[in-house]
Amino acid sequence: MNPTLKKNIIRQMGLAGMLGIITLVHTFMGVGRHSAGHHDGGGLLINILHITFAHFYIVPIILGAYWFGIRGGVLVSIISTALFTPHIFAWMDPVWSIYNYVEIFLFLLIGGMTGVLIEMERSQRLRYEDALVRLDDSHRKLKAQTEVLFQTEEQLRRADRLSALGELSAGMAHEIRNPLGSIKGAAEILKDDYGPDAPKQEFIEILLKETDRLNKIVQEFLSFARPKPPELREEDINELLESVLILTAQPARKAAIAVEKRLDPHIGKGNLDADLLKQAFLNLVLNAIQAMPDGGTLTVVSSRRDDSIEVKIIDTGLGISADNRKKLFSPFFTTKADGTGLGLAITYRIVQNHRGTIDVASEPGKGSTFTISIPV
Ligand SMILES: Nc1ncnc2c1ncn2[C@@H]1O[C@H](COP(=O)(O)OP(=O)(O)O)[C@@H](O)[C@H]1O
Ligand SMILES: [Mg+2]
Repeated sequence: MNPTLKKNIIRQMGLAGMLGIITLVHTFMGVGRHSAGHHDGGGLLINILHITFAHFYIVPIILGAYWFGIRGGVLVSIISTALFTPHIFAWMDPVWSIYNYVEIFLFLLIGGMTGVLIEMERSQRLRYEDALVRLDDSHRKLKAQTEVLFQTEEQLRRADRLSALGELSAGMAHEIRNPLGSIKGAAEILKDDYGPDAPKQEFIEILLKETDRLNKIVQEFLSFARPKPPELREEDINELLESVLILTAQPARKAAIAVEKRLDPHIGKGNLDADLLKQAFLNLVLNAIQAMPDGGTLTVVSSRRDDSIEVKIIDTGLGISADNRKKLFSPFFTTKADGTGLGLAITYRIVQNHRGTIDVASEPGKGSTFTISIPV
């Protein structure tokens, strides 16, 4: 049975019980009164008790009003009146009759008024509760809106910076690549001409190494400045992460870093550009490794959340200061002697092109967590 219904039935039974008991006792005293006669002292006492006892009807009347509102209060007072009325006729003294009519009027008044007051109080409370709920709701909405606003502004600023920079420097990087190719070719010819024992051999090695480094920077820069639009295909993100971890296994081992994989096997496939995302994750994993020069743990987590795939790259390394966190995704921001400061800018762009988001949580000295979420 419905619990409110059950409660109401119990209350109604309680009221009926109370009315019954009061009426019984009242009538019993009435019997005593009639048999005792009018003028002896014991009879008077019983009369007074009898009259006073009628006041107890007030208890069920008030309870009825409290539990069931005006209708309850008035109904119980009418029932009380009906139960009480026979005594009016049993009691023929006109003075006492007036007293009884006043009593009946009071019953109705108390039942009605308590009901009205209770209902007023209840509707007031409902109004307050309603207002509270609405206030809470609008507060939540406001908060969500402000957050979106801040995020959009930050994203716009970032996108603006990236596109201006891209146009300017892409052409330049392209121009650098050609002479760089010639220098490398020439150095290789020299290396062949002079054998490994030649006294200046090590300079040729330097030439080759530095050209490679320059080439890498230009390459990275170009992929940042002239991003290729993603070609979306059904891809398994776990496979992608595995291949990034294979690529980075060697530097991780060298730095005594333990690699922990927590890849959700039921993640399913997503519409992704595998090449681009591999590059994005590679940047994050390399950063994580570079942040743990004295070893630590690299954790890679993949999971499915409703309509998106979430990947976390977690390190126990140096962490990022609050100041640096703001500049993290700006191109050329780096704290490394040989860094390009482009890794995260590229990663950011790739994630954005997948309509995804990237988040950073970090505590200096404890480590960082980069979370990428991509809708599928
Ligand atoms: N996992 C990380 N832990 C600590 N610092 C990081 C991490 N990832 C990125 N950073 C900081 O962000 C900077 C920019 O990173 P990135 O764009 O990849 O450029 P780069 O690695 O060439 O410096 C890094 O120089 C480093 O200060
Ligand atoms: Mg990097």
